[in-house]
Amino acid sequence: LPVPSVQELVRQQRPDAVPPRYLRDDTVVADHHRESLQDLPRIDLGKLMDLASRCTELRNLHSACREWGLFLLVNHGVSDEGMRMMKENVRGFFELPHHEKQKSAQRPGSLEGYGQAFVTFHDQKLDWNDMIFLKCHPPHARKLDLWPRNPPEFRVALEKYGEDMRKLAEAVAKYIGMALGIHEEELDLLAKSFGEGSCEVRMNYYPACPEPERAVGLSPHADTTGITLLTECGNIAGLQVLRKDNCWVTVPPVPGSIVVNLGQIMEVYSNGAYRAPDHRAVVNKEKERVSIATFCYPSPSLPVGPSPQLLAATGLPPIFQTLSNSEEFLQRFLSRKLDDAVPFIDS
Ligand code: SIN
Ligand code: FE2
Repeated sequence: LPVPSVQELVRQQRPDAVPPRYLRDDTVVADHHRESLQDLPRIDLGKLMDLASRCTELRNLHSACREWGLFLLVNHGVSDEGMRMMKENVRGFFELPHHEKQKSAQRPGSLEGYGQAFVTFHDQKLDWNDMIFLKCHPPHARKLDLWPRNPPEFRVALEKYGEDMRKLAEAVAKYIGMALGIHEEELDLLAKSFGEGSCEVRMNYYPACPEPERAVGLSPHADTTGITLLTECGNIAGLQVLRKDNCWVTVPPVPGSIVVNLGQIMEVYSNGAYRAPDHRAVVNKEKERVSIATFCYPSPSLPVGPSPQLLAATGLPPIFQTLSNSEEFLQRFLSRKLDDAVPFIDS
């Protein structure tokens, strides 16, 4: 079912109230005020790479993955120039006239391209969000006809950014594996698998909202990825993560950092030791927010299940099934979701 652009709705109608299709119930309003400003874990990639500081930083990483499943990655080594170019081009794309953006519009039945998340039933509540979603890796998965030609540098910026994120995911997966106690061949396999796996980029636009406490930018969910890497395109906060004690915590935009969020494939790999946290995006009254989420998956040639080394080392029984690969994992997850049942994980 087609969903209208929120950016256009705001631009054309300048509503002073949230239209009914976006109006959420009281739970969201109540939740909204329970955020706290507690400091999120920060992990320094440079310290992980340096043998002298690795051990301490791995301990920090281990506790970040166990307690939060989300952390701010600093000193990540991605070039400032590449980041700046990507942010500028994503902003530039959303600033284009609607008809220009429509050249990249989603085709029927596909999420790829410019548009909105799917609605599956006609009176489903809508998120206060427009997006453009594009696959970057492997290269043959790219639907170049949906890649904007405007702004002129958009494609080059996205290609470079996608590569940078894929390499970063490989490094981050390796250190998450190490933090979990994985070593030797299995660790190499894990890292390599993220280096070869698929990489998808979702660029989000959240317009300013007349009644921010009555709408949601992105409904609460956990990611089905291995790892999600999030870049803020400005200094507007919006991402919130659900802490273990059921409190929503705002993730502050920290210039130069990338938010790392563990997905369910990592939760499964860690046999539940690490979290794939629920998170959501909230909106605000003053200013639009632009963000870039990159979804990184392990190679489809690898099974998705609890780490064999980890099971052997801990002697714990597996709490998740092992599936043949990330594609089967996604299919199983999606079919569950449509049935509105709990995740398929055996517990
Ligand atoms: C965002 O923070 O804008 C997006 C979060 C997500 O991808 O779930
Ligand atoms: Fe997400």
